[in-house]
Amino acid sequence: MNENQKSSAEQESALVPGTEVDAKQSSAQSSGQGSGMLLDLQGVSKIYGDLRALDSVSLSVPAGQWLAVVGSSGSGKTTLMNIIGCMDSPSEGSVLLEGQRLEDMGSAQLADVRKDVVGLVFQKFYLVPHLTAVENVMVAQYYHSVVDEQQALAALERVGLAERAHHLPGQLSGGEQQRVCVARALINNPKLILADEPTGNLDEVNEKIVLEIFRQLHEQGTTLIVVTHDALVASCAQREIMLSHGQLAGETWNDQSARQAYNSAGGRPATSGSTIPSHNPANAPTKSPKTR
Ligand SMILES: Nc1ncnc2c1ncn2[C@@H]1O[C@H](COP(=O)(O)OP(=O)(O)OP(=O)(O)O)[C@@H](O)[C@H]1O
Ligand SMILES: [Mg+2]
Repeated sequence: MNENQKSSAEQESALVPGTEVDAKQSSAQSSGQGSGMLLDLQGVSKIYGDLRALDSVSLSVPAGQWLAVVGSSGSGKTTLMNIIGCMDSPSEGSVLLEGQRLEDMGSAQLADVRKDVVGLVFQKFYLVPHLTAVENVMVAQYYHSVVDEQQALAALERVGLAERAHHLPGQLSGGEQQRVCVARALINNPKLILADEPTGNLDEVNEKIVLEIFRQLHEQGTTLIVVTHDALVASCAQREIMLSHGQLAGETWNDQSARQAYNSAGGRPATSGSTIPSHNPANAPTKSPKTR
């Protein structure tokens, strides 16, 4: 059994209700309002003047799914992530997270979702410049009311940064800062990790480290949504969607077991605007060989 097959089998069990690995999904379903999806975007648009940065995107993501979002610069990827991560609100449409409509929530509730449900790895690092790497990770713990330096150090060790823990962001390379962001996103064990170009500044070795962490998180049942320009990183996900000018330009499944489980659970292809979702292989986002 190769790694892909193993991942498929694990994914299938992760999506079959009633299995142990499915604990997070079951809780999402019980707290959800019918769809059984961790995340449901319904006709979401973001409009800036004449520009539809997102154009009526509908997308469902079940708990435990590893989804890649690809598309050229300016296609709306970060806009999508900011809306899912409660950092921005849509101009039109609805976002449901664990069955709760984000637009019905007040700012305190949205802050709780950001703190308790979502872990963010930003395209821009947003590290506090006068705090060391370990202190930056501890800031995320602080918002969760439990500060534990040993745990923060362990998270940095996990991303290969134990020896740089007491350096300031300005004393770290771009790739090292990016790995601090990954450690910061992991520290509170979020159900949903949103990562915007998490390997964009990393060399091959560090890209592998981050992908291995994602693989472990996926095996633990964490839902991952990863924006990437890298075909190899995208091919590690179970499912890929491609955006173009704020619309869905393609959807590809790399894991057929996950696809079947998704369809059986009532999952629908992503759609946008008037675009009919494409299953044309010519529109497939990435086709690179998987090397995991
Ligand atoms: N605050 C804003 N005001 C006006 N236009 C915006 C704003 N934020 C984003 N845009 C525009 O929305 C479009 C989508 O931007 P977005 O940042 O989502 O792209 P992206 O796919 O993440 O690109 P990249 O790969 O370069 O990061 C772009 O044309 C961008 O210029
Ligand atoms: Mg972006």
